[in-house]
Amino acid sequence: MIIAANWKAYVEDVERAKKLVAAAKRLARSGTHQIILAPPSVFLGLLASGNHSAVAFSAQDVSRTTGGAQTGENTAQAFVVAGATHAIIGHSERRAMGDTNAIVSEKLAHALAQGLTPILCIGERERDEESHYLSFVREEIETAFAPLSSKERQRIMLAYEPIWAIGKTASEAMRPDELVEMVLYIRKVLTQYLPGKAATNISILYGGSVEPENIRALAGESQVDGFLIGHASVEVHSFEALVKELA
Ligand code: 13P
Repeated sequence: MIIAANWKAYVEDVERAKKLVAAAKRLARSGTHQIILAPPSVFLGLLASGNHSAVAFSAQDVSRTTGGAQTGENTAQAFVVAGATHAIIGHSERRAMGDTNAIVSEKLAHALAQGLTPILCIGERERDEESHYLSFVREEIETAFAPLSSKERQRIMLAYEPIWAIGKTASEAMRPDELVEMVLYIRKVLTQYLPGKAATNISILYGGSVEPENIRALAGESQVDGFLIGHASVEVHSFEALVKELA
């Protein structure tokens, strides 16, 4: 299983960041899961430089351009130099700050061009009786995948994160049976862009109120390849509990 920890802006001091990295390295040594940490950009270089452990590091976002006169931006190339191997692209919190599908597509291209593995986030804001949310998710996948070559498409990891389930508690997260349906639907959409086996090989993560209480049920029934976890990944004890639940 892939366990990706999106620290968002929860972690604001280096000592706490270092403790979380140390815990992740311990867990990676003693288990079989792939752990990816996405710290805030200011800490990434410090935590990831010279990293030879089994833990991988991810950007939380990348710039839509290459380097130049863009105050405040962090380019995909700079993240690679800092030690990142992955990049979260199109997180709903970035989309809420203005990232459209077109911008997500540009960011994806930059991440891929620099050799980063994109963790492309998709997910509906709400569910409706007429199932319009399905076409919303389909469009997010289509606009991201359509411009890419087959090789590039195969390098993408998808994170399905329904916005209505983010930042709550396990009891309000998506149910495993609902997730099964979505994973099947996403795989079906992917077959339009990748031949059979390649579509099945794309990793699909789930994110949205994953906590130690629900991670095992979600993993067991839903056919996801892992999780993208926010609030429960930023305390050492709950991060350890999450990984141990999957053991
Ligand atoms: P929470 O786990 O805090 O719901 O966040 C999910 C998420 O947005 C991960 O990217």
